[in-house]
Amino acid sequence: MEHPLNILLLGSGGRESALAWKMSQSPRLGRLFIAPGNGGTGIYGTNVNISPVDFDAIARFCEENAIDMIVVGNEDPLVAGIYDYFADKASKVLVAGPSKAGAQLEGSKDFAKKFMERHGIPTARHLSVTSANISQGRAFLDLMKPPYVLKADGLAAGKGVLIINELDEAKRQLDAMLGGMFGKSSATVVIEEFLDGIECSVFVLTDGKEYRVLPVAKDYKRIGEGDTGLNTGGMGAVSPVPFADETFMSKVVDRIIEPTVNGLREEGIVYRGFIFLGLINVGGEPMVIEYNVRMGDPETEVVMPRVNGDLVTLLEKTAKGDLGDEPLDIDPRTATTVMLVSGGYPGNYEKGKVISGLGDVSDSILFHAGTAINENGDVVTSGGRVIAVTSYGDSIGDALARSYASARKIGFDGCYFRRDIGQDLLKIEKDV
Ligand code: AMP
Ligand code: GLY
Repeated sequence: MEHPLNILLLGSGGRESALAWKMSQSPRLGRLFIAPGNGGTGIYGTNVNISPVDFDAIARFCEENAIDMIVVGNEDPLVAGIYDYFADKASKVLVAGPSKAGAQLEGSKDFAKKFMERHGIPTARHLSVTSANISQGRAFLDLMKPPYVLKADGLAAGKGVLIINELDEAKRQLDAMLGGMFGKSSATVVIEEFLDGIECSVFVLTDGKEYRVLPVAKDYKRIGEGDTGLNTGGMGAVSPVPFADETFMSKVVDRIIEPTVNGLREEGIVYRGFIFLGLINVGGEPMVIEYNVRMGDPETEVVMPRVNGDLVTLLEKTAKGDLGDEPLDIDPRTATTVMLVSGGYPGNYEKGKVISGLGDVSDSILFHAGTAINENGDVVTSGGRVIAVTSYGDSIGDALARSYASARKIGFDGCYFRRDIGQDLLKIEKDV
């Protein structure tokens, strides 16, 4: 038998908790380290205090701890080129993730749009604007109908998309973005046609040749019930998604997934990791809103519980470019997650609140996100999104009832969660 794999997982959120939880169940796993991890990831492995973008420190740690594979949770190390860093050293450490060129699918919306154009992948009409063609940008806005969608080209921590109703305001915001609203990230702005429909997140694991489609999920981005208020990292998620049925998914495979995987290969772009397709269902037709080059958060907290089988072997084969016919079985049950967040999030919030009731939950899986252990050994809040409460069920309603019953057992000063996760899908589920 091959020796067990020692793995270093990069990241610190609920997504990384779910990846660590899943990998820790694998018979292929040797030791698991999480850098930097959170107050809950210590259940599955050992937290190490290294920044996910400090590649030299990561390389030293890998050397000293006989790490076989790095699994990357968040986009920053991928866009900064962690895959190439280890490939250039001819290191024997496997990296599950795309090359720096592949990570441009998320790192540059302009790159992603041009890639989709080259490969005939359905997406909103657009124009990329810099200070050199700003008048063309204004003229393009004149031709569009409201609302107007403006996107910073580069990474902006999920804040780089503005959706604006008034034409004059859109032109003002275009100027402000080009003038540095998101620093260098908005030196190029992508203006996009607004697409009206319901969104879902499709996840693919590819070694650059073969691919597997993971469970589909829907997340809830706004802070307020009824999808109101500010955007957040995500307030909850549901999988599967009733409208992503066989007909819809076969369109997704034919029109989006295959052209994406084949397009990357034809262009010589190395890609051995997850692809996250942010899709919108426009009258039954899937269109791409965005690519991400990692798993979603909180989608991972419902996707991983529905993956049967061995994630470590799947990732190892992906990273070796040898996915072959390794099976990916999907659990037929529904999974839902409800995110408990700090009062004030996504604006200012306090940290260090002691979290109670964690031991009283038996019906759900608690994926820690913004948590830490304080000097007394208490689990305390340390971020905006604190804990994802994931449950299984025979239906969306059933799973949600468990997630909410568990959520009510947990408490900390200022704790908030949306009470309407999945309500829109519940209606569709009844009609199917
Ligand atoms: P993104 O960061 O590209 O995922 O955009 C953030 C959110 O803005 C998406 O999840 C959508 O809700 C919305 N959005 C982005 N692009 C469009 C579009 N072309 N039409 C409608 N909504 C959009
Ligand atoms: N939940 C959306 C994201 O991870 O980007």
